[in-house]
Amino acid sequence: VSLKPYNTFGIDAKARFFYEITTLTALESVLKLEEYPNKFIISGGSNMLLTKDIDALVLHLNLKGIKIVSETDHDVIINVMAGENWHELVLWTLDQNYGGLENMSLIPGNTGTSPIQNIGAYGVELKDTFESCEAMEIATQKLKIFNKETCNFGYRESFFKNEGKGKYIITSVNLRLSKKDHVLNTSYGSIDQELQHMGITTPTIKDISNAVIAIRKSKLPDPAELGNSGSFFKNPIINKIDFLHFIEKHPEAPFYKLSEENYKIPAGWLIEQSGFKGKRYGDAGVHKNQALVLVNYGTATGKEIVDLAHKIIDTVYAKFNIRILPEVNIV
Ligand code: EPU
Repeated sequence: VSLKPYNTFGIDAKARFFYEITTLTALESVLKLEEYPNKFIISGGSNMLLTKDIDALVLHLNLKGIKIVSETDHDVIINVMAGENWHELVLWTLDQNYGGLENMSLIPGNTGTSPIQNIGAYGVELKDTFESCEAMEIATQKLKIFNKETCNFGYRESFFKNEGKGKYIITSVNLRLSKKDHVLNTSYGSIDQELQHMGITTPTIKDISNAVIAIRKSKLPDPAELGNSGSFFKNPIINKIDFLHFIEKHPEAPFYKLSEENYKIPAGWLIEQSGFKGKRYGDAGVHKNQALVLVNYGTATGKEIVDLAHKIIDTVYAKFNIRILPEVNIV
């Protein structure tokens, strides 16, 4: 089975066996199958780069459903099954006038994988609305609840990317959203300007979502048209001493001060300054509007994309003495 339709990079890797999971009981039974010792889970396929065929039983996680768990006058807790598309969930919450996810509009992928890298955009991260998630332990098929503490969220990081890596399958996520007096985040990444441009002075959560959608569409390629996995790299975080050396040499560089000790530098800027923005090598390339995004123009292999990533990492390191790291899961 070709996995091309199941990964947003559009890489034509093959699965030896393939099975679509639509219920928890099916997931439990399939994980028990001893004839297939190697199992590989694929969900929205929006944060992985396949560099080879998968000699395993590939399970496509397609659990669906959204329900209200509890609510007060102010808040609602919803339970979302792993296979629900993230952006469709955001649109559903906006239709109910539930606030909290609007800044994370149009992020590709499914809800079940959102905790793995604590997805985030425009000043808001998943952890800001996250209550808990339920996950099946692969070895025992037992369901376990993880709260915000046990998930150990960081910038594009969590328990599931570290100690828990490869051990659990997230089956559903609980989110706490506001029903009124929504807290709006409009200061990050030109949302303010976009709203002004739209002629809006007192924005609703729907307006913020529309502004984010407009900004993202202008910068980020649509995976349906051009294969990609969003940001391919993480923005590097450097210590104060390294930062002072860096900024002395490059006073024009953008940066975010995270604390007295830590500074985040946009990898997109480092890559653009290294001359890669818009470059194309065969069918592998660097997006023309956002250098953080690597793209597949059609028939690039995972290896060609990885080779390009290494070339970028080495060039950025030679020029800035900063080592950038992939955000995407390379398989
Ligand atoms: N920049 C450049 N050249 C580029 C790209 C960016 O100079 O080609 C500079 C911009 O001028 C700006 C700065 O870098 O000063 C930041 O750019 P941007 O606002 O586009 O955000 P980012 O830091 O590059 C992060 C996330 C995105 C998210 C945006 C908005 C990471 C790895 N990426 O990108 O997430 O949408 O902020 O919040 O943190 C994703 O994860 O797939 C993703 C798209």
